[in-house]
Amino acid sequence: MIDASTRGRARPRWRGRVRRAAAACAVGIMAAAGLVALPGTAHAASTLGDAAAERGRYFGTAVAANRLGESDYTATLNREFNSVTAENEMKWDALEPSRGSFSYGNADRIVNHARAQGMDVRGHTLVWHSQLPGWVSGLGANDLRSAMNHHITQVMQHWRGQIHSWDVVNEAFQDGSSGARRPSPFQDRLGNGFIEEAFRTARAADPNAKLCYNDYNTDAINAKSNAVYAMVRDFKQRGVPIDCVGFQSHFNSGNPVPGDFRQNLQRFADLGVDVQITELDIEGSGTTQANHYRTVVEACLAVSRCTGITVWGVTDKYSWRSGGTPLLFDGNYNKKPAYDAVLTALGGTGGGDPGPGPGPGPGACSVTYEQTDRWGDRFNGRVTVRAGSTAISGWRVDVTVRPPQKISATWNGSPTWDSSGNVMTMRPNGNGSLQPGASTSFGFTVMANGEWSAPALGTCTTS
Ligand code: G3I
Repeated sequence: MIDASTRGRARPRWRGRVRRAAAACAVGIMAAAGLVALPGTAHAASTLGDAAAERGRYFGTAVAANRLGESDYTATLNREFNSVTAENEMKWDALEPSRGSFSYGNADRIVNHARAQGMDVRGHTLVWHSQLPGWVSGLGANDLRSAMNHHITQVMQHWRGQIHSWDVVNEAFQDGSSGARRPSPFQDRLGNGFIEEAFRTARAADPNAKLCYNDYNTDAINAKSNAVYAMVRDFKQRGVPIDCVGFQSHFNSGNPVPGDFRQNLQRFADLGVDVQITELDIEGSGTTQANHYRTVVEACLAVSRCTGITVWGVTDKYSWRSGGTPLLFDGNYNKKPAYDAVLTALGGTGGGDPGPGPGPGPGACSVTYEQTDRWGDRFNGRVTVRAGSTAISGWRVDVTVRPPQKISATWNGSPTWDSSGNVMTMRPNGNGSLQPGASTSFGFTVMANGEWSAPALGTCTTS
């Protein structure tokens, strides 16, 4: 939850979903609005998702549907993460095992779980050479083209409005120095244009989803990432729809976190796309592993368009390379040193719940934000205004939306707008008096227009 107070006091500790949703707005918002947290105003979040949200980012994990019945797994997932990726359940072989026959059950379990918890969902992945059902590989060019477009359209429309980012095309480039496209049924039969076609089809299928290209061994500036970079630059120049690039970030001693990781993320961001760390895991243990994780998190935080981090699993015991113990929780769901490093890098603390703070001081007020509802095209936000230790007679707070977002409705307040239409200044509707510690709230509906970040919340000003 975001808290913008006029005084440097600790703010209440909010729990659970409300806290997570609210936090999601906070820092990115404050950064966007040019606001700076006063020393002592921000509490330190105690989970990965909350801490990331306070930095305007998500912190996600890959999830396996068949683990959701394990209580420790689900408890850890629910407590720590605010975004999920289906580890295997949205791949082509899982969703369309035979032509035209779609099987959404396992993936739906993950999406439904995530939505019930207020988590975001990343879609992984629509067009990939691996985990393809046999029938796809046997098709001729025309048939393959229509099968690819049909698959993209059906799958994206099934979860239309429910998935914030899709890996539209995964791993289409060769390793090594060639910079060439990887051989695959798509590449071999449709040529280079299959990637562009997939992205255009994806945009039409769910115009609100962010469309990502996702790959591995592209984390450094190297021949492979240069080839991806050239493709993204070309797409942006020609208006081919692409919104984000995913960097899988599977690291180990033979493939360590590169020294130019941040610079590489930044050069892609400078092309006008978001960047996301999509499958992070780092083999190792102890302090060494923790330091590598810290480096990755710091790199993402240093790049304003790095919108989130996903680790490739909850616990070492179910990792695709469990022998390398590459994740943040061990096989018994204990937090590893890497967990502490990530949480600390995000600005959080494992120091426990400090409990309700004293709130703003005399003559002051504070504001917190939470998302209360979300639909396919819009969400509702609620801002709670609380008086400090003395009564106040009025208040004012700015809410700044992120274009192309638009506020379409407000309630329990009297809004005015700046010339851009992006900054709403809300004042009380009538008597704005609040007794010491008392609170009131106002609400608004934001048409997302594809941008689901929380609006930026300014500080509370008394009058
Ligand atoms: O579910 C079946 C099970 O019924 C069967 O008994 C068993 C026997 O092999 O296989 C099980 O399926 C395995 C599946 O993971 C679930 O555990 C598949 O064989 C296995 O191939 C599959 O591996 C997945 C791999 O992608 C496939 O390429 C990993 O879990 C998954 O973590 C991994 O994820 C990929 C990303 O999608 C793309 N980037 C690289 C990343 C790591 O390889």
